[in-house]
Amino acid sequence: EHDISVIRALPKVELHLHLEGAAPPAFIRGMAKEKSVRLDNVFAPDGSYDFRDFGHFLQVYEAATSVLASPEDYARLTLAMLEQSAENGVIYSETFISPDFCGGGDLSAWKEYLQAMREASEEAGKSLGITLRGVVTCIRHFGPDKARRAAMCAAETAGDWIVGFGMGGDEARGSQRDFAYSFDMAREAGLKLTSHAGEWRGPREVEEAVRDLGVSRVGHGVRAIEDPRLVDNLVEKQIVLEVCPGSNVMLGVYPNLGAHPIEKLRERGVKVTISTDDPPFFHTSMADEYEQLARTHGWDAARFAEIARTSADAAFCDEDTRAGIL
Ligand code: ADE
Ligand code: ZN
Repeated sequence: EHDISVIRALPKVELHLHLEGAAPPAFIRGMAKEKSVRLDNVFAPDGSYDFRDFGHFLQVYEAATSVLASPEDYARLTLAMLEQSAENGVIYSETFISPDFCGGGDLSAWKEYLQAMREASEEAGKSLGITLRGVVTCIRHFGPDKARRAAMCAAETAGDWIVGFGMGGDEARGSQRDFAYSFDMAREAGLKLTSHAGEWRGPREVEEAVRDLGVSRVGHGVRAIEDPRLVDNLVEKQIVLEVCPGSNVMLGVYPNLGAHPIEKLRERGVKVTISTDDPPFFHTSMADEYEQLARTHGWDAARFAEIARTSADAAFCDEDTRAGIL
């Protein structure tokens, strides 16, 4: 028990955290009330987010996100997220921000939202001891045209705070390749790249994200374990997986943490990192993820230090910032 409290308190680096997905249900309820917006079918009787499966999760997520409608709302959300992360011992974090949700993909509005989030992160970050960077994210099921607008927003604001471009959303729609134009635009603007793959579809999707989009990190990527040659390839190319074990178990990708491939991937030499994805939706936190991994796979403080090192090395920020993380 002493060990578990030590492990929960370890310094952590989180690379896969959706900003809207970090909104606590009470935060969204409060915003809805302030604005006199009715949110139907979002909350369970106990007040938590209510969803049946991944498709329904995306619907509930988008309904909840719809109450966030101004730069000020996003500044407040950024602060709420940072407070949660800091409580969990997170010292550096990258968050997925979608211009489709904030600013509607319109560049001038996006700049105002971004400014608000960045200011909130810089103010709160200092007092909370946490450094935040943003990864602009397109939403796969919104299609390639919207993705291009998101990539334009990303390219126009690329710099020392917006450090990457990524893709989330429904992996069952279309293919990675449909988004190559957007990822090329982002790469040319100097951004680092990541894409959700191998969460809902199998190893081919991970292979395509690496080959067709040129990503250096993969969101989830866990189903790569189903193809030993792909695993070898990920090791060789030093591709980093943003693994979110609690999310995978909650959404039914795996029945429980014991059946989750994170330990096999690590033993095979794949660079794995640990994140929460959308912590209040999945009833998790960074400290909970650490605790569960310690209990289920016997991971100790040395193992977690190794994971934190891998994560800091894979961070998309500039070298000076990286040097200050751990
Ligand atoms: N957006 C938020 N969470 C996500 C997930 N787990 N997969 C794909 N898109 C998401
Ligand atoms: Zn995700």
